[in-house]
Amino acid sequence: MVLMANPVFDTVRSVMAVREYQDKAIPSDVVTRIVDAGRLTASASNRQEWHFVVVREPETLRALGSLVRTGPYIAKSVLAIVVAYEKTSNTGISDCSRAIQSMLLTAWAEGVGSNWTGFGGLEGVRSKVALPDRYEVLAVLPFGYPARPVKGRKKRKPLAEVASAERFGTPFPGGGSS
Ligand SMILES: Cc1cc2nc3c(=O)[nH]c(=O)nc-3n(C[C@H](O)[C@H](O)[C@H](O)COP(=O)(O)O)c2cc1C
Repeated sequence: MVLMANPVFDTVRSVMAVREYQDKAIPSDVVTRIVDAGRLTASASNRQEWHFVVVREPETLRALGSLVRTGPYIAKSVLAIVVAYEKTSNTGISDCSRAIQSMLLTAWAEGVGSNWTGFGGLEGVRSKVALPDRYEVLAVLPFGYPARPVKGRKKRKPLAEVASAERFGTPFPGGGSS
């Protein structure tokens, strides 16, 4: 196998869900780059029916930690991005999911950890950050420098179990490819 340097793959391979953060501010230019990665993401028919609310006030971060049942640790992050789509959009979940991945990978490439928290049913978050009723909040992303080194060992099914060559059940990669 030929090994090639590929920083995008390395970022995908090493990113993990980071749930504990240092109490250290993220520089403004890095914050802007993370949000801009969301903006630059492709959406269906390029409709961009999304909105990203950037939260840095400690009081709001604490409130988000209480509002997202599966993300209490948002309270101890230094930044959170609330990701929402217009309720009339048929592709809002797909579009926003892709933007979320762009933002998480961009952050990780800067050494900033994050994670996806919540999945819909986030009405309380919507009103807390004053998003109009026409939006549905998909997720809240807390960010911060990791509190401890990230090991980067992923627990994933082997490639042969989740991918096939040509037809379901034919092992991928087969012996013929490299
Ligand atoms: C759609 C989605 C929703 C998730 N929701 C939560 C959540 O509410 N709270 C949480 O702590 N982690 C959440 N996660 C993180 C996953 O649990 C985590 O990425 C997964 O267990 C794999 O761990 P790793 O990213 O460290 O390899 C979510 C991830 C995805 C993709």
